[in-house]
Amino acid sequence: MGANILVAGGAGYIGSHVCKMLKKMGFNVFIYDNLSHGYKFLAKYGEFVLGDVGDRRQLELVLKNYKIDVVMHFCAFIEVGESVQNPRKYYDNNLYNTINLVDTMLDCGVNKLIFSSTAAVYGMPERVPIDEDDKKDPINPYGRTKWMIEQVLKDYSDAHGLRYVAFRYFNAAGADPEGELGEAHDPETHLIPLVLDAALGIRKSIKIFGTDYPTSDGTCIRDYIHVNDLADAHIKGVEYLLNGNPSNYFNLGNGKGFSVREIIDTVKKVTGKDFPVEEVERRPGDPALLIAKSEKAKKVLGWEPKYGIEEIITHAWNWHKKLKGVES
Ligand code: UFG
Repeated sequence: MGANILVAGGAGYIGSHVCKMLKKMGFNVFIYDNLSHGYKFLAKYGEFVLGDVGDRRQLELVLKNYKIDVVMHFCAFIEVGESVQNPRKYYDNNLYNTINLVDTMLDCGVNKLIFSSTAAVYGMPERVPIDEDDKKDPINPYGRTKWMIEQVLKDYSDAHGLRYVAFRYFNAAGADPEGELGEAHDPETHLIPLVLDAALGIRKSIKIFGTDYPTSDGTCIRDYIHVNDLADAHIKGVEYLLNGNPSNYFNLGNGKGFSVREIIDTVKKVTGKDFPVEEVERRPGDPALLIAKSEKAKKVLGWEPKYGIEEIITHAWNWHKKLKGVES
């Protein structure tokens, strides 16, 4: 019998892909989601429980009834701009509710956690590729909530017997290669799905936010990592904790950067569609360059990302057409 895994936020983008892979690997999957941003139609690889990570009583019932061995926590608000406008929302959910989740876990005798962190903990990095131990200096409330939680987890690990793995995702992208799951944010703010909307003609153009960055073509460079490569790291993280290893934290990226222009060109190539591109002002708070050094995850977890940018965009395109009900 596989271990029992509670996937909080399992009806969301990354969580749903992780559930599918966990199930394939023989784990027993329990999805815990309040459906505020997740979708029931993505929560199909596990037993679904409607619940909020802020609801201690409901969490206690689930942790005890299902004899949970490991909790994965994907329930977070992720919009940087919104976090600046409404920090309270972010501290309430991403910080306070996460502490509630960990306290409830420990009180119920569950001490293993996989936590979703982010490249945003580094803020404006001093160098790339970014190493896990480089300076953490988040520049918005979203990044701060994630870094605060990482520090809480470290203290709990030192003093209260928690064992955790924190994964700092770079730019999660792509979709299930089998076409059953994918990205469905509302509102959508991420580059690739917005470019795909332009390719479908749902959006009349794609805007490039800033063309005067100190990069090769003046646009921001990001490290795009396939959601299934992220899911694979999570499986390895669960095995790492189940094997009794100590708390740890890892960057998850491809170690290769693509500019906004390169992403747009790759979408045009993969989809065979042309669409207008507008050059506009910078979006506040965007670092010029984010590229991960992921050697630690490779060495410690034996993780190796499989997918390159064309596969990321091809899988995203297949899903996107299905989601929007359009056949091109
Ligand atoms: N961009 C555009 N036009 C758009 C949308 C985005 O030019 O319409 C640009 C952005 O300015 C940025 C790049 O495309 O340079 C990627 O933007 P995304 O919004 O897709 O992703 P981010 O790099 O801003 O955000 C990601 C995660 C966040 C996390 C952040 C860490 O999605 O959750 O990395 O810096 F906080």
